[in-house]
Amino acid sequence: MHEALKEAALAARQRAHAPFSRFLVGAAVETADGRIWPGCNVENSSYGLTMCAERTAIFSAVAAGARHFVRCAVVVDTPKLTPPCGACRQVLWDLCGDLEIVLFNLQGDEAAYRLADLLPHPFDATFLD
Ligand code: THU
Repeated sequence: MHEALKEAALAARQRAHAPFSRFLVGAAVETADGRIWPGCNVENSSYGLTMCAERTAIFSAVAAGARHFVRCAVVVDTPKLTPPCGACRQVLWDLCGDLEIVLFNLQGDEAAYRLADLLPHPFDATFLD
C-alpha cells in the first residue's frame, strides 16, 4: 500500500542536504490522480533558512502545477517516527487540507494520521474574509 509514495520518499531522503544536523528526511506528496512529488530537507549555514522535506515536496508539486493532494509520506532513519513540524503542518493545511500523513522509518515502523488531528483549530484563508 502506498508503495510508490514510500519509494519516492526513500529516494528523496538519499538526496537530503543535511550537513549540520545529519538528520536526513525524505518526503513525498501524492495527488488525487496518483501523481507523486518528492522532497528532502535542504539545510543552510544560516540555520533558520533550512527547508524541511515536506515543504520542499509540496512546493515542488505546486510549482509543477499539481493540485488536490491526498497523502504525504515522511521517512527518517530513527526509531521515533518524525511528524511534520508546525510550519509544515500549516503549509500543508493551506495547500492540501486534511491530508493523510504516513510516517515511516528504515526500521519498518509505520503510522498514519490525519492532518486535521495534527493541527487542530488551524488558521487558514477563511479568517482573511
Ligand atoms: N526536518 C524535516 O525535514 N522534516 C521534519 O518533519 C522535521 C525536521 C528537518 C529540518 C532539519 O534539516 C532537520 O530535519 C533537523 O531538524
